[in-house]
Amino acid sequence: MGISYLKSLPLILIFILITVSAWSSPSTAASSNSSSHNGSFQQCFSSGFQHSYNSTTSGSMIFSKNNSAYASLLKSSVRNLRLLINSSEPQFIISPFHDSHVQAAVICSKKHGMQVRVRSGGHDYEGLSYVSDIVPFIIIDLVNLRSISINVENESASVESGATLGELYYKIAEKSNAYGFPAGSCPTVGVGGHFSGGGFGTLFRKYGLAADNVMDAKIVDADGKLLDRKSMGEDLFWAIRGGGGSSFGVILAWKIRLVPVPPVVTIFNVKKTLEQGATEHLQKWQAIASKLHEDLFLHAVVDVANAPSNGGSKTIQISFISLFLGPAERLLLLMKVSFPELALERNNCTEMSWIQSVLYFAGFPSRSPLRVLLDRSPQSKSFFKAKSDYVKESISKAGLEGLWQRLMEEQTSLLILTPYGGKMSDISDSETPFPHRSGNLYQIQYLVTWDSDNETQQHIGWMRTLYAYMAPYVSKSPRAAYLNYRDLDLGQNDNNNASYAQASTWGLKYFKNNFKRLVHVKTVVDPSNFFRNEQSIPVFPS
Ligand code: FDA
Repeated sequence: MGISYLKSLPLILIFILITVSAWSSPSTAASSNSSSHNGSFQQCFSSGFQHSYNSTTSGSMIFSKNNSAYASLLKSSVRNLRLLINSSEPQFIISPFHDSHVQAAVICSKKHGMQVRVRSGGHDYEGLSYVSDIVPFIIIDLVNLRSISINVENESASVESGATLGELYYKIAEKSNAYGFPAGSCPTVGVGGHFSGGGFGTLFRKYGLAADNVMDAKIVDADGKLLDRKSMGEDLFWAIRGGGGSSFGVILAWKIRLVPVPPVVTIFNVKKTLEQGATEHLQKWQAIASKLHEDLFLHAVVDVANAPSNGGSKTIQISFISLFLGPAERLLLLMKVSFPELALERNNCTEMSWIQSVLYFAGFPSRSPLRVLLDRSPQSKSFFKAKSDYVKESISKAGLEGLWQRLMEEQTSLLILTPYGGKMSDISDSETPFPHRSGNLYQIQYLVTWDSDNETQQHIGWMRTLYAYMAPYVSKSPRAAYLNYRDLDLGQNDNNNASYAQASTWGLKYFKNNFKRLVHVKTVVDPSNFFRNEQSIPVFPS
């Protein structure tokens, strides 16, 4: 069943029809003087609401550089401070309260030669939701479109894209402790970017990705039309569940399937330093983690620590962190069979509810109230660079030791090793654009953080050297990567307008054989390539 929307106000529809008929092509519009476009864009946008909204309402959703709230709104959800340095700024930030405002923003942008960046949670690793190489541009920031409604009877929920994962988890827990949703661990990540790029978390070995659990969606396309699953068609609905939303339109809302969670789950975090056999433990982990029972998620986080077990000097530390969907006694039995070397004991384990485990994986102190999940301000902000890889065969001991050596050069480096298998192996590579399914042992995320812009080149250089070192140990032809860990080093569209061959450099890494189908969908739904950015899906030449 479709989501019950598509109920735009009649006056807005009249405005949209009049404006659509007045469209000029983006290239013609872009060639005119940009400051006159600013005024006319603002006029175009505001005139759509003069009958149905008073000027205060309209004024509080369009922010220009002259507005005192502009700077704080621009920075509000930005997670990576690197992207705020020397970046071009949007002419306007639009913060819509209603679907029709998004339609008007798209239509007026197209008419007045403005590029559009869409922002939900602002966590894009390369800032593509708020930084643009092509100017002039606007940001459509969906912070005010974030309502969530939970329907326990139908085991489903409707969630607007501007909601955060924390808000979604909170709302689910408010209604029932028997359900959860398989999405990421960070509560301030936005639903819009996360779902459209895949979205995995501690439940994904049991239930797949967030995108695998989407039943319907609502999108504003490049013509400003509001579509649901039925009216957008199965090709576009396929594309926005892992192909990234920003190439296809503005996704306003999602209908998702809630998944059952047991009343008691168990977590543990067992740390091993090199001196305590971390390398050997990781070798064993590589062999078993993707084959564990699907109720058992056991990831490995590698960092550089000053460990007391090593006389306080620097060493590599691996944290084996787990969520088990059941009580501790059952977990202990499974671990004894699969990973006895870790010597897990009952006192390493803590039983809790699923929603408490959400707080734990989000890094909140135990006994934090659930309402911390509603705080949209990021827990920390820093300069960072990240990359990803997929591992199909265990990395040798020598390979791991070389990796440790390189990590020790960077005190603030971190690796997150996420095991695949379980439900992820049951879903075909082409079910959604996210192609990283069976055959993967685990995913690696490499992360380095720092505090000041003058260190940027040094840390990025280090990250690139590390990535080059890892090439022999990870997937090849293509060397696969996860879209939601966006990395512009993989390749960028020239002038945001790449040919198929150019875009294949990064497209095949994120999407493998699904890339071509994404280009087909894009060519049909946005032939003028209105929604484009440094890594947007290109169109086939006509
Ligand atoms: P943001 O608003 O920056 O958007 C990201 C991209 O999607 C941009 O290209 C943007 O234009 C587009 N977009 C956003 N909303 C859209 C919409 N409504 N319609 C069309 N396009 C839209 N991932 C994961 O799988 N599991 C995890 O546990 C984590 N954890 C995590 C922690 C932290 C601290 C960060 C910074 C990131 C993660 N991620 C993650 C990665 C995260 O899933 C990824 O960055 C998402 O794209 C973020 O979505 P936002 O809406 O927050 O980003």
